[in-house]
Amino acid sequence: MARLASQAKAGFYPTPDKVCDLLSSKLEIEEGARLLDPCCGKAKTLCRLGADGVTYGIELDHERAQKSRTRLHKVIWGDALTEVRISPVSFNLLYLNPPYDTALAADGKEKRLEEQFLRKYMGNLVQDGYLLFVIPYYVLKHCAKPLSRYFRDVQVFSFPESDFGGFKQCVVIGRKRKLIPKNEAQDTQEYLEKFATLLPEFFLSAAPPLEEMPEITVPAAQGPLKTFQGTKVDPLEAIPLIRKAGIMSTVLSELAPRKNNHIRPLNPLENGHMALMLAGGYMNGAVQKDGRQLVIKGVVDKSEEIVKSSGDGTGKGTITTRDQYKPTVKVIDLQVAEIFTIQ
Ligand SMILES: C[S@@+](CC[C@H](N)C(=O)[O-])C[C@H]1O[C@@H](n2cnc3c(N)ncnc32)[C@H](O)[C@@H]1O
Repeated sequence: MARLASQAKAGFYPTPDKVCDLLSSKLEIEEGARLLDPCCGKAKTLCRLGADGVTYGIELDHERAQKSRTRLHKVIWGDALTEVRISPVSFNLLYLNPPYDTALAADGKEKRLEEQFLRKYMGNLVQDGYLLFVIPYYVLKHCAKPLSRYFRDVQVFSFPESDFGGFKQCVVIGRKRKLIPKNEAQDTQEYLEKFATLLPEFFLSAAPPLEEMPEITVPAAQGPLKTFQGTKVDPLEAIPLIRKAGIMSTVLSELAPRKNNHIRPLNPLENGHMALMLAGGYMNGAVQKDGRQLVIKGVVDKSEEIVKSSGDGTGKGTITTRDQYKPTVKVIDLQVAEIFTIQ
């Protein structure tokens, strides 16, 4: 999670305004077209490109996901590679501007995230659906295989020179196809790989500028989208629903201890006593601290440790164990929707 969090923090480089302007001047989105951005950031880009379409986003960073909810029709907060369930063959346009980095893939190998995102999401496009893929041009060599085998009319355009310096990005466009035979995909694969070998200044003069991208009409979706959901609960979405359903007070009363809450200690409690009471569950429930709303739950987990074992080789013997008690306090901070665990 620490790595994911740092990826989210460092990986936020929204599509530059100029690129966004150029892309939106080339796109015509029919009413009811379904558009997906699996790394939507604050969703400024998809919101602008989306126009009359129905827009869907996924974002790892909670604050950005919240912002996106004000701009898109539906947003999942979570890891788009592992924490979502989305119907395949359902979107008419996939806008993909993923983090430019490497990470361990499901097969345990370190791979470029651009390739991992492409492979994960290309199956969500309908046949002939459009891909707009923003990546550093030198990453084309990692994505050339899936691009050439699953897309037709693949073309690469360079970012405007004024925006190229930072990450050296290009825009790849293509239309989703079922698997294309290897021999037919060969030319496209070589075309993409060749770009990746160039020095930045040669790439800029070899690839056509984005102004030359063809105009694209994205048609309306056929049929409903069955599934678009995250696998983890977003407290900021869940809490209003729970409040509305009226179960919050029941949950909080279940969390609070039923007995002994009228005892007044003779002396003020030491920190050690407070810690034990906290872990023992005597202070469970909702509290307000420095303007923050917290929900506290203390538990003590019991485990057994083997301290001695002896045997005579006949299968008989003795094992001596010792009980261990591990106090744990969990705190949910409702403002930032984070869970802290103290052990
Ligand atoms: C390059 S920015 C793109 C933002 C937006 N799509 C745009 O083009 O303007 C990448 C975004 O992906 C998010 N991100 C990184 N890893 C992610 C993951 N595993 N799942 C979902 N979002 C992720 C980052 O937090 C960041 O906001």
